[in-house]
Amino acid sequence: MKTIFSGIQPSGTITLGNYIGALKQFVELQNEYNCFFCIVDQHAITVPQDRLELRKNIRGLAALYLAVGIDPEKATLFIQSEVPAHAQAGWMLQCVSYIGELERMTQFKDKSAGKEAVSAGLLTYPPLMAADILLYNTDLVPVGEDQKQHLELTRDLAERFNKKYNDIFTLPEVSIPKVGARIMSLQDPTKKMSKSDPNQKAFISLLDDEKQIEKKIKSAVTDSEGIVKYDKENRPGISNLLTIYSILGGMQISEIEAKYEGKGYGEFKADLANVVINALKPIQERYNQLLNSTELDEILDKGASKANQTAGKMVKKMENAMGLGRKRK
Ligand code: AQP
Repeated sequence: MKTIFSGIQPSGTITLGNYIGALKQFVELQNEYNCFFCIVDQHAITVPQDRLELRKNIRGLAALYLAVGIDPEKATLFIQSEVPAHAQAGWMLQCVSYIGELERMTQFKDKSAGKEAVSAGLLTYPPLMAADILLYNTDLVPVGEDQKQHLELTRDLAERFNKKYNDIFTLPEVSIPKVGARIMSLQDPTKKMSKSDPNQKAFISLLDDEKQIEKKIKSAVTDSEGIVKYDKENRPGISNLLTIYSILGGMQISEIEAKYEGKGYGEFKADLANVVINALKPIQERYNQLLNSTELDEILDKGASKANQTAGKMVKKMENAMGLGRKRK
C-alpha cells in the first residue's frame, strides 16, 4: 500500500480553502493509502502565536480532522511536536539546504514582506516540511496549489541527500485537486484565502455560524456586471464563489450558471450561503461532540506512538547516512 503524508498548521481555525484544497481530499484518499495526517504546530511558530490560542487551535484542528471524516482506524493522526523525529530530521535537512533556494520560496517572500523582525524559522520552514514528508517514505502528498513549490524543494532535498549520503528517501509526488486548489479571499479575490488573514471577512472558517457565513458571503467582493458566469481571469470574485458553490453543492459550474441566468448576485449569494451552511453543519456537530472528549486524546496518543515508531527508524537511517553519533540499528 502506498503512503500519504499531509499536514495543516494550527495557525487559526481552518478555512474553506484548507478544507476544499486539502482536507476534503484526505477523506477520499484514506481508503486507498496508508495515511499520516499531521497537525504541524512547529510550523505554526514560524510566525508569532499566542500560547493559549495555539493550544486551543491544535486541539480544535485535531477535532476538525475527525469531524470531516478522517477515520483513526484507517489513518494515523498526530501532532508534529509530539514526534521529535521531525525536528531532528528537519535539522539534518537544513544542513543540506542552501540559503539561496530557501530565500526564493514565494511563501517566505510573502510572509516576510514589509516585516522588520522575521524569524529564522520562517526561512527554514521548507526543510522541516521536507522532513515531515520524507520521514514516512511518502509516495504522495495531497496539498493545495500554494504548497507546490515547497514540494518541489522537498524532492530536490531528497535527491541531494540520496546522492550525497545514501539512497534512503522515496521521492514523493504531489497531488493537487483539479478544482478548488486555490480558493481565494472573499475580500481580495486575487489573493488566496488564508486562516491567518487579519481581515475576518476574507475567509469562512469551518466553525463560523450561520449569521457569520451569510454576512461574509453577502459582503464578498464580486464586480459590477451582475452576471453569474465563470471567468477566472477577468472576474475572479464571482468565479471563486462559483467554485465554492460547485464543490460544496455537488453541481457542475455550467449547471449553476444556467440556474442563475438572468438573476442577480443577491439570489446567488443567498443560496450559496445556504449551501455552505448545510455543508458545514454536520462537521460542526461532530466537532462539538469530539472537542472535549477523552476519545480525542486517545486517538492522538495512539497516532503519536505509531508516528514515532515509523519516523524514529528513518531518523536513525539519516544519522547513520550522515555519520552522526555512534552507528545504531
Ligand atoms: N486558499 C486555499 N485554497 C486551497 N487550498 C489551500 N490550502 C491553504 N490555503 C488554501 C491548503 O491547505 C493545506 C494546509 O495549509 P497550511 O495550514 O499548512 O498552510 P497554508 O498553506 O499557509 O494555509 P493558510 O490557511 O494560508 O495558513 P496561514 O494563514 O497560517 O499561512 C495545504 O495543503 C494548503 O495547500
